[in-house]
Amino acid sequence: MIFRFRTIKMERLRQQIDTIARFLEPNAAFINCHMVDYLTEQHWDRYVPKPIQRELLSVEDYLRAKHVFWGQFDQPSDSVSDELPAVKAFIEETRKYRLEGSEVQGTALTLAEFQNALEKCRKETRLKMTELMNVKKCHEVEIAAAVVASLCTAVASGLPDGTQDDILVIDAGDGKGYLSSRIAVEHGIKVLGVDCNEDNTSNAEKRRDRLKTKIPKAVKKANLEEDEHFTNLLQGDTLKSLYRTTTQLIDFETDLIALAKHHFPADNHRTFCLCGLHTCGNLGPNCLRLFHQNRTIAGIMNVGCCYHLMREEFVMDDFYNPAKISDNPGYGFPMSSYLRNRQFAIGRNARNLASESIERACINRENPSDKLGYRALLQIVLLQYGQKKSLQVGRLKSGDFIDYVRKSVRRLGLEDRVTISDDSLLELETRFSTELEQLKVFYLIRQQFAPVVETLILLDRLLFLRECGYERSFLVKLFEPVVSPRCYALIAMK
Ligand SMILES: C[S@@+](CC[C@H](N)C(=O)[O-])C[C@H]1O[C@@H](n2cnc3c(N)ncnc32)[C@H](O)[C@@H]1O
Repeated sequence: MIFRFRTIKMERLRQQIDTIARFLEPNAAFINCHMVDYLTEQHWDRYVPKPIQRELLSVEDYLRAKHVFWGQFDQPSDSVSDELPAVKAFIEETRKYRLEGSEVQGTALTLAEFQNALEKCRKETRLKMTELMNVKKCHEVEIAAAVVASLCTAVASGLPDGTQDDILVIDAGDGKGYLSSRIAVEHGIKVLGVDCNEDNTSNAEKRRDRLKTKIPKAVKKANLEEDEHFTNLLQGDTLKSLYRTTTQLIDFETDLIALAKHHFPADNHRTFCLCGLHTCGNLGPNCLRLFHQNRTIAGIMNVGCCYHLMREEFVMDDFYNPAKISDNPGYGFPMSSYLRNRQFAIGRNARNLASESIERACINRENPSDKLGYRALLQIVLLQYGQKKSLQVGRLKSGDFIDYVRKSVRRLGLEDRVTISDDSLLELETRFSTELEQLKVFYLIRQQFAPVVETLILLDRLLFLRECGYERSFLVKLFEPVVSPRCYALIAMK
């Protein structure tokens, strides 16, 4: 198999994990704190680094600080400002511990590096098909389909007289089939899409049939009418024979191969590639396990998401709701023996944080929601009325603070007990107006840890693959993070 890339040494990977763990450990309580308790438990005094506390003293300072956070991904301007040095130093420090930061350099490959390393196996996207997908999905699918096709070609090149036709792709958590249908349409590779949600499976099939009507226009636009593959694709049931779907929950011992053979009985495939785009919660880690357990799955490309839906082996989750995450059996963290031996834990709120998109929030100058402050104020009210434990209000559509309180109290079934007047609520909001502005900066300070926690999760998955003996395992930055925040893929070949 042609592959010309030097892989990162396992020892170096462990060192990087140690460095991040050392950075996160003293901040564990900070990144796991509940915003609900911000006012009642004095989060600012307790968690914000002292130099920042000394630097930010007024509402004006908080407003300036927000702009410093938001501007961190902007092009550096010529005018060097010495404004808020402690805030800037903190931003710089946290950015060292994310992928591409100075402490984690050389681990993630760029898409170009990965594709170049594949040399002759490299496949490109030629069709422009925006139909039936939003901008984000289009961006992901065009890139990921070409990467999966390249991976299949690389795997096939390692088989005696192997061609792409020898490989069958299994797409785990196929959803509406955006990626799988594109792999089949563009690259002519057979794909089985597997999703636990029956509606998704049936919508994927309906979409495949509608997609067929869109292909001729896309082929024409790309001047590919003479291409034999596209000519055949438009005949009869060709697309249906390339892309099939099934409804099945995937866990850590699902027999994907039996499933593939059942749905492609005539093809006698003996080599498989497992892909997954935004495999939420434990599905991503379970895909890595299935790759390791099945000798015939020779390649994997997996992009994870929704880290908050993962279960951790060494954390008891207060809010664990088995019904909510019933499609996520097993544990998702830690995966590597290295962190399992240390019984390393991240914590639920920190995993929630890891699912955020700091790049997008900064580029769009997103102000943290007023509701965070409303909930923290409501906590003061609830404590006044004798409610000691943290009650979950959840997502709520509401207008101003009074409306928020009335709706929350109703949802919590406390209307008879919490009888505070509108005037008192307004007085409370005015009294804490400075802290409400401060809370937004607190949120941005804490958000700096989001990519660091995600980096630890991704390095742990990469180390798992390396510990299993897969030299050719990589982290590759596939997408533009502003367009698609979960932008790193784990890619491996046996
Ligand atoms: C975030 S969506 C991504 C869908 C699709 N890959 C895409 O990129 O558009 C995750 C999908 O995985 C499916 N899913 C989650 N856990 C699963 C499991 N354990 N087994 C099979 N499918 C699962 C969900 O039903 C959902 O369709």
